[in-house]
Amino acid sequence: MPRNIFYIRTFGCQMNVHDSDQLATMMVDDGFEQTEDVRQAQVILVNTCSIREKVAQKIISQIGRYRQLKENNPDLVIGVGGCLAQHWGTSLLKKNVGIDFVFGPHALDKVPEMISRVQKRGGAIVDTAFRTGITSLNICPRPHNGDLQAFVTIMQGCDNFCSYCVVPNLRGREESRPSQDIINEIRFLVAHGVKEVTLLGQNVNSYGKGLDEGICFSDLIKSIDAIDGLERIRFTTSHPKDLTDDLVDRFGKLGKLCEYIHLPFQAGSNSILARMNRGYTREDYLARVERLREVCPDIAVSSDAMVGFPGETTADFEATLEMMEIIRFDNLFSFKYSEREGTKAVSLDQKVPEKEKSRRLNLLQALQDRHTLERNKAMVGKTVEVLVEGISKNSSKDMMGRTRTNKIVNFRGPEQLHGKTVNLHITAGYLHSLRGELS
Ligand code: SAH
Ligand code: SF4
Ligand code: F3S
Repeated sequence: MPRNIFYIRTFGCQMNVHDSDQLATMMVDDGFEQTEDVRQAQVILVNTCSIREKVAQKIISQIGRYRQLKENNPDLVIGVGGCLAQHWGTSLLKKNVGIDFVFGPHALDKVPEMISRVQKRGGAIVDTAFRTGITSLNICPRPHNGDLQAFVTIMQGCDNFCSYCVVPNLRGREESRPSQDIINEIRFLVAHGVKEVTLLGQNVNSYGKGLDEGICFSDLIKSIDAIDGLERIRFTTSHPKDLTDDLVDRFGKLGKLCEYIHLPFQAGSNSILARMNRGYTREDYLARVERLREVCPDIAVSSDAMVGFPGETTADFEATLEMMEIIRFDNLFSFKYSEREGTKAVSLDQKVPEKEKSRRLNLLQALQDRHTLERNKAMVGKTVEVLVEGISKNSSKDMMGRTRTNKIVNFRGPEQLHGKTVNLHITAGYLHSLRGELS
């Protein structure tokens, strides 16, 4: 069996998924062959995440299972990369006998070389250096035949240092990509059939900082909107403190910018927001959403929230529920606060017991389910534009697509509609999807 078949497994955020796609593209260009079957692999790459303890534990057990494959395949090379690798560095090698090399998020382009060093000489290697110049970001993942959507990195790193968060420590300082590189990449993707792009960064609203171009995020979106053949633009993640009026005003005006924003609020209490170092108040956040809805009444708003941050009293938690009642998010990703080594919040007192965190999370998720259902049901009777992505997961007789507001719609229609934009009359709204009819 040749020694160049690799398998890649990814954990964590969209950015990590995209990093893995870039890595895989680069490896294939380098002569490696990718497999979806881990037992075929001579090289296993695990791209990891460290955002919460539970995520980290799950990854460690998975790596343990991969290590067992070495029993029948002693030449198997295992490389662990991404945020957890960055966090642990050399100590990961000590903890997990059987890992051959460790690469941080800034060392993606070094992976083929690391593999060949391990294969030639053996012995463990670690590269967790931070680099500027974001070399690996300029690899555009090869679009697969029929891909309608693609992710495009516009910046890496984060300078915000929210007190609970590991990302600034593990991904390094914020660095924006030159706009021409981004535009060229999108043109390339469009030429390969892509119709929708999602611009990626930990805080896309501060795009442009540090570039000589004098460009900001809303300028970038305007240039992307002018790309022929592109139909939809989305972005993630937006930080409320940097969401400018300029950007808000682009919604509803730029034809390709979808009526959808993911705007994490984290908590509804000002004292908790201050302890989190989020840089905005509850009132600021409410005012941002109000303005978004003023300029674009149909906009869908999703968010992230956390319960049980140190010092969160019952009243603070109720302030979070109250914010949800006022805003009524279309969707919410919610988490129990997880203490992470190296973050400021470790030193905060008044920790919330695990059981209480679970109680609060359950209440919050039940409330959100009610709101999601209510928002989805409110779509019934409307006619909306849907980009048809393929056959429905629920029934092979149905097709599925996505609205500009990022909701999934199942409907009866021919397979030939794949890749087309159609108008659908919405007939039902459920918790996770809508039902529609061709109109
Ligand atoms: N850059 C994005 C989010 C990155 S992490 C932003 O600023 O919004 C995604 C989500 O994970 C965060 O919004 C937060 O809700 C959650 N998260 C991050 N660190 C966490 C921690 N230590 N414990 C629990 N949830 C956390
Ligand atoms: Fe983490 Fe805050 Fe940066 Fe988001 S903005 S990645 S939550 S530090
Ligand atoms: Fe996880 Fe790193 Fe993303 S910690 S959430 S993979 S930036």
